[in-house]
Amino acid sequence: MSTDPQPSEPPVERVRTNRDQLRASLLSWYDGNGRRLPWRVRGGRPDPYKVWLSEVMLQQTTSAAAGPYYERFLEKFPTLEALAEAPIEAALEAWAGLGYYSRARNLHAAAIALDLFGFPETEEGWRALPGVGPYTAAAVTAIALNQPANVVDGNVERVMARLCAVETPLPAAKRELREIAGLFVTAERPGDYAQAIMDLGALVCTPQAPRCMVCPWAMSCAARATADPAAYPRRALRPERPERFGAAFLLEHDGAFWLVRRPDKGLLGGMAGLPTTPWRDHPWTRADLLTHAPPEAGDWRRAGSVRQVFTHFALTLEVWRAAARGEPREGWWAPRDQIGALPAVFRKAADLVA
Ligand code: ADE
Repeated sequence: MSTDPQPSEPPVERVRTNRDQLRASLLSWYDGNGRRLPWRVRGGRPDPYKVWLSEVMLQQTTSAAAGPYYERFLEKFPTLEALAEAPIEAALEAWAGLGYYSRARNLHAAAIALDLFGFPETEEGWRALPGVGPYTAAAVTAIALNQPANVVDGNVERVMARLCAVETPLPAAKRELREIAGLFVTAERPGDYAQAIMDLGALVCTPQAPRCMVCPWAMSCAARATADPAAYPRRALRPERPERFGAAFLLEHDGAFWLVRRPDKGLLGGMAGLPTTPWRDHPWTRADLLTHAPPEAGDWRRAGSVRQVFTHFALTLEVWRAAARGEPREGWWAPRDQIGALPAVFRKAADLVA
């Protein structure tokens, strides 16, 4: 049977017909070219704790960036029990720098439940845990349990959109792409297949300049047959990200900064950070922002501004500094060398003063 594109056959039908060959060529490509990643086990059964941890880290972080955090997190919490028994502050601290801190809070809450009840043995069981959405539940089911599951992340969506030249733009195409991805789900090497298709998206079928010359699916790819395979997936125009404004305060004493714990709800909830104003949709004036500054301070002087782009908005923080004249009621002094453990936006703010 040939896998060459047949102009008369719709791409999805071609996938259905050639599923086993496509799977076999991808798995053989993966055996020779898949990435060596710290959480990846070849042969043998992976530790569900480590697979779950890695997949939660990879939800919003690239493999390259997550690698060192993964290793350090496991040094601090080598087992599920170690994480379950640790205070939430320790888990948040080990997560600092990775962003999306609700992931660490959910991970810790789920660890307590898993330590009591054991790891789920089904995809639905994983899905019931805090912080485990459809993607993570499917990934852990395929990789840790070696059971068939439809693992669909952004890489997989892109590969499927190209393989079948799907014209529906994202995000409307998500369901269609999931259905195409689902055609490949079988009981044969489900964990390897899931990782292989993600690697194909990350290494070969890249967002820009896909490397079709080395792609095991090139001969079957409908986008490859067009002049511009990178034009898939089609995308609807995105609404602009809103701009928010705030101010952060560097209260200084003896080479240390005053830190507070942020409220549990909201951006960077529960994390240590600099005292700030609330955020709003227009810049603060000196007079109104200083009503939020810790009062135990000398003259506030402007140190500069920093900008950080979050998922739902972009934040510009005016940064102000003053020498301490006392100690605010809630918070603590953190020496400079501890500032590296803060979320990036606060690290950048502290970097404005030498
Ligand atoms: N992205 C998220 N999880 C992954 C995995 N296990 N392998 C490759 N890429 C991934």
